[in-house]
Amino acid sequence: MKLVSSAPQSAGADPVRRIRELPDELVSQIAAGEVVERPASVVRELVDNALDAGASQVTVRLAAGGVRSITVEDDGTGIAVEDLPLALRRHATSKIASLAELESVRTMGFRGEALAAIASVAEVMLTTRTRDAPHAWRLHARSGELAPAARAAGTTVEVQELFFSTPARRKFLKTDATELAHCLEAVRRHALARPDVGFAVWHEGRLAAQWRPADGAPQRWADVLGAEFVAASRGLQLERGPLVVHGRVGQPEAARSRADLQYLFVNGRYVRDRLLAHAVRSAYEDQLHGSRQPAYALFLAITPELVDVNVHPTKIEVRFRDGRAVHQTLRHAVEEALAGSRALVSPVSPAPAVPVTVMPQGSAPWQPGLALADVAPAAQEGAPRWQVEGPWRTPQGSGGIDAWAGLREPPPAAGDDGKGTAGWPLGREDRPGTAGWPLGRAVAQIGGVYVLAENAQGLVVVDMHAAHERIVYERLKRAAGAGAALPAQPLLIPVSFAATAAEIAIAEAEHEALLALGLDVGVLAAGTLVARSRPAALPDADLAELTRSVLADLSEAGSTRVVQRARDELLATMACHGAVRASRRLTIEEMNALLREMEATERADTCNHGRPTWRQVTMKELDALFLRGR
Ligand SMILES: Nc1ncnc2c1ncn2[C@@H]1O[C@H](COP(=O)(O)OP(=O)(O)OP(=O)(O)O)[C@@H](O)[C@H]1O
Ligand SMILES: [Mg+2]
Repeated sequence: MKLVSSAPQSAGADPVRRIRELPDELVSQIAAGEVVERPASVVRELVDNALDAGASQVTVRLAAGGVRSITVEDDGTGIAVEDLPLALRRHATSKIASLAELESVRTMGFRGEALAAIASVAEVMLTTRTRDAPHAWRLHARSGELAPAARAAGTTVEVQELFFSTPARRKFLKTDATELAHCLEAVRRHALARPDVGFAVWHEGRLAAQWRPADGAPQRWADVLGAEFVAASRGLQLERGPLVVHGRVGQPEAARSRADLQYLFVNGRYVRDRLLAHAVRSAYEDQLHGSRQPAYALFLAITPELVDVNVHPTKIEVRFRDGRAVHQTLRHAVEEALAGSRALVSPVSPAPAVPVTVMPQGSAPWQPGLALADVAPAAQEGAPRWQVEGPWRTPQGSGGIDAWAGLREPPPAAGDDGKGTAGWPLGREDRPGTAGWPLGRAVAQIGGVYVLAENAQGLVVVDMHAAHERIVYERLKRAAGAGAALPAQPLLIPVSFAATAAEIAIAEAEHEALLALGLDVGVLAAGTLVARSRPAALPDADLAELTRSVLADLSEAGSTRVVQRARDELLATMACHGAVRASRRLTIEEMNALLREMEATERADTCNHGRPTWRQVTMKELDALFLRGR
């Protein structure tokens, strides 16, 4: 706004601004902006360096989520004392010396930028000793002071008060718990890629995560990703030309609501690459409902000359010389692995034609009767179950609210609930028993997604997951009241589940927020959380998945203050878990119960994301489809 109004006045008035070279310090700070976004970026760079130095054990110590201090110790080669000041200089590296070496680079680092960038936005101390040196040396980056020190062979880098000189940047940081979670995630990625190296992360003097050198990759993957993932995934190994792919892909029914278990590595480097992600996703194409996210950890090894890692400041993206071939090979590898699993899955019932998202084994069946009573207390008192004045409107152009006039009598008796639909007469005038039900009587379910019902106007099509999600969401909002805690139902048998160190950190930091949501979550043992209560309004949700999603939301939201504001979003996440999954096969009774619940729920004609939950296709429209009466 300001710019627009002041521009005409100042045009021509200002002297031409001269071009000048920026001071070194500012150049470094600008460069640091690209490399160092948060404490986790520092952790990633320092662990990269330790691995490049051939470390077999890397220890990370953090204070205040890494914001106050980050220390990374390794037992690698160390740095020669003559080179020590160079290590902090921009564009100084021991890893490449020519373009040819850049093109065939096998180390994690090669730009000679990371330490300089970090030193421009934090206090940095380097302590290092090579194997043949009589003692260690310690360099203080800001003062340049170099002094003898005590240390075994290897390097320690201490980074303190990140962004102390750039307060604007510091403001973007989230809570300590969230920053810690990101730091842990950074180490997790390294741990997945390097099973031969031991990793430990300490936070405020407590061991937050530890992975000992593993007996091969599968052992490390199980250590990092958990036995649950391993049990619900298939291994794969494929070699084609210059490309080797190995790793594990989650079975479709173990898909998640979030893309939080998707790891792709190229030559040991964690990447977020569209081409690769697309290749994997497309291998799941006909097996996964659109919004579900597959879980996978995939490791690609390719001749370095065939991949450009110098694409992104944080090296998180890569470019392949032959992207198509890589895409095809990866897709093929994943398809093969999944084909193997599919054969094992459903020997009895034929696979559903469209999506496959199966309710987790052992979870309680959906109980529409209970839910209905919960939603529509009026029904229990014999009052009409729904009101014309309520939220119910027919979608535009299909009869309007008048169509429902006079439909306030109680619904037909329970016996007349749609069983035995096969014998229904086809006559138009005497479709039975739909009079009391605006959304009609259920007749079928198709594609595992839609419920078809017949009402006075013709055909009703309901997106069952979207509709039920809205119902559960409204129920949760009512139960939550204005800021009160959600009623919790204590569990006779607590549910324990594997959790990442990051999840555990968030669970501890946000214990109160979780309680307010009806989730009493505690730490059972290293790598295991336990839920001792569930939200009473979600009797059927998979607790492990629900808790993980809520933890992910909390980690995003940051502080408890934000949580209050993000409450509706949290409830929406929870509703998604409480809602019947697409692909669940419903009985006619369950379908009818869903329709009745919709009729009794506010705002039930759109889902939480604003999409319609149901559509009316009138007899007239059906007639038009078949050119009847022309
Ligand atoms: N932990 C370490 N052990 C041994 N040498 C190290 C260690 N950390 C840094 N160095 C030395 O310091 C140099 C500079 O490190 P820095 O991370 O700034 O650059 P780089 O790793 O070469 O490239 P990039 O900017 O891509 O990370 C390295 O090339 C390496 O020689
Ligand atoms: Mg580096």
